[in-house]
Amino acid sequence: MANKTEQPRDHWATKLGFVLAASGSAIGLGNIWRFPYKAGQYGGGAFVIAYVVSVLIIGIPIMIAEFIIGRSAQKSPVGAFKQLSFNRAWPLVGWLGVLSGFIILSYYSVVGGWILRYIWESGFHFFKEGSAGPIFSSFLANPWQQLIWHGLFMFMTMIIVRGGITTGIERWSKVLMPSLLIILLILMINSLRFPGAGEGIQFILKPDFSKLTREGILEALGHAFFSLSLGMGAMLTYGSYLDKGTNISSSALEIVVLNTFYALMAGLMIFPIVFTYDVDPQVGPGLFFITLPEVFARMPAGQLVAISFFVLVAFAAITSAISLLEVVVSYFIDELNWSRKKADYVMGTVIFLIGIPSALSWSSLKGVTLFGSRDIFDSLDFLATNYMLPIGGFFIALFAGWILTHGQKEAEIKRIENTFHFYDIWHFLVKYIAPLAVLVILLQKTGVLPF
Ligand code: TRP
Repeated sequence: MANKTEQPRDHWATKLGFVLAASGSAIGLGNIWRFPYKAGQYGGGAFVIAYVVSVLIIGIPIMIAEFIIGRSAQKSPVGAFKQLSFNRAWPLVGWLGVLSGFIILSYYSVVGGWILRYIWESGFHFFKEGSAGPIFSSFLANPWQQLIWHGLFMFMTMIIVRGGITTGIERWSKVLMPSLLIILLILMINSLRFPGAGEGIQFILKPDFSKLTREGILEALGHAFFSLSLGMGAMLTYGSYLDKGTNISSSALEIVVLNTFYALMAGLMIFPIVFTYDVDPQVGPGLFFITLPEVFARMPAGQLVAISFFVLVAFAAITSAISLLEVVVSYFIDELNWSRKKADYVMGTVIFLIGIPSALSWSSLKGVTLFGSRDIFDSLDFLATNYMLPIGGFFIALFAGWILTHGQKEAEIKRIENTFHFYDIWHFLVKYIAPLAVLVILLQKTGVLPF
């Protein structure tokens, strides 16, 4: 059998293709579903500011670090750390990433399943005014429904990853991400005409710092990692498919701008509705699934809009899910020499199984809590997003800042192609600021620090 690691590695065809594929990983349920409800729970504008600050001083430097590590090693996370350092402890960071991939995808797929179910619901029954709340609660309470849709989403993800990623993902991302933009814009403009629009805009853009608790800051940091797909080597893996000619720093900035833009659009689409119909912004994960159908039910051609919207969101979710599965699968291909087919089917199935307790969090396992008062679904999200990703990101930053030599780094992000001392600023952030900021936030949360 051919040794997989000796096959030439696939590379993105164009920079645009790469930027859209990486944006496809970043832009997903995190922006459209998770961001609005987290902002709802942690004080709207204050959360948004903490998020944007985290993105600027931590997110961008770590994204560039992941691309640099991936491209210079041309390997997936575990292999990349093995190749770039002699110290046998570094590959543990890759391992942590693979583990995070298992956990995050397991519950991400449950929500992906909800989107699929909503496509079906919009197509065959359609929501009437006031019907979405009850439909959503009875859906959550039905274990078989949860498992079937979760399984279907996982299966679709596996089919795409099975086909290899570069041509498939790159081609699809080029069509889907712009289409999603158009439909989000239409829905956002529509929302901004609602009577609650003023209140909605205020909620998301006007910071009330009294609401920004320590917990809120940790959540904002975690969300910065989650929404940019950072801290577990997903961007590192995508970076390993980059050729040497692509400008890493400008790509990273473009991805971050696009990502933030989609999140804000999603917020401006949801909160006017929330305030118009008096939904509690703190309802949590269901926010999106209850508010939006209400608008569709009241819109001209609402059914058509609903179907197209959920189809596009499903694609956004799948382009993210494949990047999570790809990290797991590429580990088994690169390091254990499995075939892509075997790695994909076996690990996809394992992830489906790990997702079962999350899928049953509101039915058979209702009332079971793990961390604090969080149910199983929330606990896994809490653990992975607020701890595993920041810890992974912390070590990625240290590796890029302290272990890689200037020579290695400058081969990937050249001083001359960047104006305004971009390299030096990046290097300072990744070496000192990003690790320190993550550390302080984590320690503060665990109560080790006295403030
Ligand atoms: N960023 C994606 C979203 O916002 C989710 C995601 C994809 C992700 N790959 C990841 C999160 C890797 C963390 C790590 O929906």
